[in-house]
Amino acid sequence: MSRIVLGVSGGIAAYKACEILRRLREDGHDVTVVPTENALRFVGETTFAALSGKPVATDVFTGADAIPHVRLGREADLVLVAPATADLIARQAAGRADDLLTNVLLTATCPVLVCPAMHTEMWLHPATTQNVATLRSRGIVVLDPASGRLAGADNGIGRLPEPAEIVGIAEALLEGDISTRAAERDLTGLSVVVSAGGTHEAIDPVRFIGNASSGRMGVEIARAAVLRGARVTLVAAHVDVPWPSSVDVRTVASTADLATAMTETAASADIIVMAAAVADFTPIAPSGEKLKKSGGDGMSLELIQTTDVLAGLTRARRAGQTIVGFAAETIADETALVAAGRAKLSRKGADLLVVNDVSDHKVFGMSDTTVMIVDTAGACGRVAASKAVVAHRILDAVVNHRAMAN
Ligand code: CTP
Repeated sequence: MSRIVLGVSGGIAAYKACEILRRLREDGHDVTVVPTENALRFVGETTFAALSGKPVATDVFTGADAIPHVRLGREADLVLVAPATADLIARQAAGRADDLLTNVLLTATCPVLVCPAMHTEMWLHPATTQNVATLRSRGIVVLDPASGRLAGADNGIGRLPEPAEIVGIAEALLEGDISTRAAERDLTGLSVVVSAGGTHEAIDPVRFIGNASSGRMGVEIARAAVLRGARVTLVAAHVDVPWPSSVDVRTVASTADLATAMTETAASADIIVMAAAVADFTPIAPSGEKLKKSGGDGMSLELIQTTDVLAGLTRARRAGQTIVGFAAETIADETALVAAGRAKLSRKGADLLVVNDVSDHKVFGMSDTTVMIVDTAGACGRVAASKAVVAHRILDAVVNHRAMAN
């Protein structure tokens, strides 16, 4: 159980803090809500108290005998501010301590995640830009707001990302040591293309050959890359999990569609990650009509091998491009698994290969995984964690590889 301080400041998105709080509590965390005075104009103290199971204070004088302004920040495993208004961010950047929340922010030594939400003009104002840069330079993870409907009739950048997205990032920060690189935004200016999910190869208009991939690993890599400042395109084959709203998405069905989308998007990408589970075979002549039982004992389907998308991308590689492949193997022995990974890495011509053992339903659809990250120099790193944290470790390997290559 982690101790989280949920700071809420006074914007219309304060109502979404209730959903964030509910999700964190359902996941077993101990959450203390610290709203600003203005947040309580949007959501009542009773709501926060009932949902968190704890009393709620906004100032440093309530229950002063327990020294809440120091204790809360010191004891927290994570401070999450959602929504963070332009005013809260300005006060935090200036180091003010004029209410309980800003006191907590000054005393916290744990990771701090700030989720801004405000009108577009306020987000784009140089004052806010500078304040956000100040926070990031201090190791604070500041999300970029999403685009969409704002208060009133306005539309644009400034929306609070969805509660599920925020909770996913908060839990990754609690689990893995990822806040430094997320605050540095070490992928700023880079374009990342990630494929995810399983392809479907049509047999007839209603049947297909598919696989058990949920797309979760690829989606987590896309999410991690966004957090680290990259522009991200997700080429989504059949994906069963929600993806972040700030990625460009191209949905595809078959391996042939995936090959086209990857070739087009990869042309301008700096980093390409082929996390999709691609069918190796496709029906040679899919039927245009639904196949009928023929009255015989069975049927046979003639298949032809698909094109190897990853190998095609590595052949067309531009200078400065880093290409990451995956390998799904059913080899339980780790030494043999890594050996198979090394052979596949050189066969495919990728820079890095993420190898995992997918036997016994250990990987597809699961939130945790164990992978070996193999590189062309022969090094191999083992990571066992949630897919959200594994995604960051894969990006760490990409960043290291690019630093060595330059
Ligand atoms: N891949 C691809 N195109 C294919 C098959 C696979 O781009 N037609 C990619 C996958 O996205 C993955 C990597 O190649 O990044 C390895 O996939 P995997 O299924 O492990 O290997 P295969 O090439 O299919 O080799 P094999 O099944 O024979 O082990």
